[in-house]
Amino acid sequence: MPSGPPSPAERGPGGEAPLSAPTGKARLAILLSGRGSNMLALAREVREGVLQGLAEIAVVFSNIPEAAGLQAAAELGYATASVDSRGRKRAEFDADVVAKLEQFRPDYIVLAGYMRILSPTFIRAFAGRILNIHPADTHQHQGLHAYEWAWENRLPETKITVHLVDEGLDTGPVLAQAPVDLRGAETLEDVERRGLAVEHRFYADILARLIRGELPKTPAPATASQ
Ligand code: GAR
Repeated sequence: MPSGPPSPAERGPGGEAPLSAPTGKARLAILLSGRGSNMLALAREVREGVLQGLAEIAVVFSNIPEAAGLQAAAELGYATASVDSRGRKRAEFDADVVAKLEQFRPDYIVLAGYMRILSPTFIRAFAGRILNIHPADTHQHQGLHAYEWAWENRLPETKITVHLVDEGLDTGPVLAQAPVDLRGAETLEDVERRGLAVEHRFYADILARLIRGELPKTPAPATASQ
């Protein structure tokens, strides 16, 4: 083990030290349920962008074994894993997922279109190291269909939110937000295209800042039964 204080890349989300990877590269477990465009954007940034040298993808995981994003990750050569959530009780399913993910020794759990509410079992296993991206200001809109909500309300702007995850639905402490200009948008597809273009840059930027210890210290989300 190297002596002396940990490098910024070895610190945890609250500046605490050290992460598990002695190389200084943060190990990411990316979780998705669908097409995986955010996963693909993160993978690109790991290969040749802001996350290069800072992070590596330990595994791409899905609760839907046939998710298109999981297939795309496998085709790119990333380790993939899945546990089918259908018909499972939440806590039992999450315990299986935690066991599966722990095999890959992740430093961060990066939710990228992972359409599940996480149980205390999951939150406790990776406390303060679970991130999510939500395509709206989480103080104004939670859950599914955020772009539809922005479109139907003809919002001139929406805010992409990256936040730490707690047991609620898009309720954890906000790490950062990025505005999306929706003025002049003519269709829902246009709204979504503009939003995703921001999501795909912003998530990697915030993750890079978090890994470098550049974000203000945020209290780790609490679990109900702590
Ligand atoms: C993204 O827009 C993401 O922000 C959203 O799901 C989409 C997944 O797309 N997440 C949520 O709505 C979470 N509440 P992707 O599979 O192409 O990354």
